[in-house]
Amino acid sequence: MRAVRLHQTGGPEHLKVEELPDPQPPPGGAVVRIEAAALNHRDVFIRQGLYPKIQLPCILGADGAGTVESVGTGADPSWVGRKVVILPFDSWGDDPRIPGKDFLIRGMPRPGTFAEKIALPLDRLAPMPEHLSFPEAAALPLGGLTAYRALVTRGEVKKGDHVLVTGIGGGVATIAMLLAKALGAQVSVTSGSAEKLVRAKSMGAIATVSYKEKGWEKELANQAGRPPEVIIDSAGGPDFNALVLAVAPAGRIVIYGATRGPAEKLELPRLFFKQIDIRGTTMGSDAEFYEMLKLVAREKVKPLVDRVLPLSRYAEADQLMEKGDQMGKIVVDCRK
Ligand SMILES: NC(=O)c1ccc[n+]([C@@H]2O[C@H](COP(=O)([O-])OP(=O)(O)OC[C@H]3O[C@@H](n4cnc5c(N)ncnc54)[C@H](OP(=O)(O)O)[C@@H]3O)[C@@H](O)[C@H]2O)c1
Repeated sequence: MRAVRLHQTGGPEHLKVEELPDPQPPPGGAVVRIEAAALNHRDVFIRQGLYPKIQLPCILGADGAGTVESVGTGADPSWVGRKVVILPFDSWGDDPRIPGKDFLIRGMPRPGTFAEKIALPLDRLAPMPEHLSFPEAAALPLGGLTAYRALVTRGEVKKGDHVLVTGIGGGVATIAMLLAKALGAQVSVTSGSAEKLVRAKSMGAIATVSYKEKGWEKELANQAGRPPEVIIDSAGGPDFNALVLAVAPAGRIVIYGATRGPAEKLELPRLFFKQIDIRGTTMGSDAEFYEMLKLVAREKVKPLVDRVLPLSRYAEADQLMEKGDQMGKIVVDCRK
């Protein structure tokens, strides 16, 4: 099979499309022919060497969707031919509050989805929602799971809440907006791009502001008529305090990334006078993954696919992700 392997960290030239032996189905498991796989910022961080505990060479990629091609001994043969989405992690563990010590995101150190095939235990495969195409389904797992836990478990979003999703161009952010709307929330967004703000408005955002404008939080509350009860953020960084100013009293800031580095100059009195919670979140459990799929199927949520590139041009996809001009997910067609 063909697969994209990273041999050393650094520039995109270290990402090689190679011929590798086909994986064999493990006992009780299956081989999936991957139709589409999607990038996450993690894949770029690993290629750049900006991720902990990197083991090389490796096949990157946490997200994928495809068709079960074969099963191993002891596995129910009726799985063959089923369309599946791949759970983007192994071993959440027993505690729903926090992943255990064996928790692993797919794609480094274990083989990932930027390949024509992958071998996995059956409990890492879930039925693909019927209303989705393969690229849309591939765009769902990691971002959808992260957004679901951030909104539902950690954000405690209720119908009618005002939810601010920052940096709407991000892969997790766009699915967070769609899931929040599916939960009955009103959604506002920030972005560094005027075009993405226009796009978000057309997708139903009630307020859209640029995070580059100082004092954007006042404009957001003006547009929406009230401040957000919940903020979903993955930027962090020097301007994190703007979120403390933006959130409603007794509100929650849920953070799942730190793309812009450490928070600076947090106004602690604002935190305690406003009774604000700042909550961290990471991906989610098997149960949350299935709850997310149920919501997606019930509300016919369609993840936003920015574009689809062939596997043979993976390095271009990596470069697009690094540049960050996309709105939604960059997807790779693993058949081409
Ligand atoms: N904890 C977890 O489970 C988990 C899961 C997935 C991702 N993550 C982390 O979350 C982050 C985003 O991941 P991703 O895959 O969604 O990446 P991505 O698609 O590359 O999104 C990054 C986005 O960050 C936004 N951004 C840049 N500067 C910003 C600022 N000052 N304020 C607000 N937003 C800003 C940009 O939005 P605009 O283009 O709209 O300006 C950009 O599109 C990464 O750090 C990743 O490692 C964590």
